[in-house]
Amino acid sequence: MKAIGVFDSGVGGLTVVKEIIKTLPYEDIVYFGDTARVPYGIKSKPTIIKFSLENILFLLKQDVKIIVVACNTSSSVALPVLKRHFKIPIIGVISPGVKEAVYATRGGRIGVIATKATINSAAYERQIKQLNPKIKVFNQACPLFVPLAEEGWLKEKATYDIARHYLKPLKDARIDTLIMGCTHYPLLKKVFREILGGSVTLIDSAMQVTLETKQVLANEGLLNKKRSAKYLFYVSDELQQFRKLAKNFLGREITNLRRVNNV
Ligand code: DGL
Repeated sequence: MKAIGVFDSGVGGLTVVKEIIKTLPYEDIVYFGDTARVPYGIKSKPTIIKFSLENILFLLKQDVKIIVVACNTSSSVALPVLKRHFKIPIIGVISPGVKEAVYATRGGRIGVIATKATINSAAYERQIKQLNPKIKVFNQACPLFVPLAEEGWLKEKATYDIARHYLKPLKDARIDTLIMGCTHYPLLKKVFREILGGSVTLIDSAMQVTLETKQVLANEGLLNKKRSAKYLFYVSDELQQFRKLAKNFLGREITNLRRVNNV
């Protein structure tokens, strides 16, 4: 049976893979992390679209049956173009997170933290307003969180200082729900929780993305029937750093890791 193809600009999409492995333990997964070209979050729309198209073409060569765009920046900027270009089912991470947040909010005040490109695309705000125009959305680009997560700085004082700075306007706006709109941010969940307090609901779309993937596979009769799974990981740059970080993101060692030179 064919695999689930997942791509991200780097290592962050492994937070989604972790959830897929938990929920769909008999599905093969091929992951591509574009580590040579990360970060996408500070790049222009045409560049992000070009990289995303190339990543899908690479995954299609690996014989996948569905594509999960496990990158908020690609999903928010490129998803409509990707869906127009390919026949294969493509799942993004924005609408699952939006649905969950709209469902979770009690006071109708949702904060969105994400990369600059995601915030500038206004994809989250647009989709939230489509579901409920009365909800107030407060956006905050947090470009420093990606390098902090990549460095494994999850408890350092500097991380708390930066997070306090980014989250202050959202705290002042009295948000009741926070969308962690970037694959890397769930690693900093504890930091957000401490700063915002227990009354703010934190939304990590990985679970919802997985359920949507499962639903599409079930509808199309594409769920795996065998009782084992293979995982293959590809990156476009050196392996060592990815392998090290992968442990934090995936919660386990990765074994089948390969480098590709041309996607
Ligand atoms: N994967 C990106 C995202 O979820 C974060 C890293 C980047 O900027 O490429 O938005």
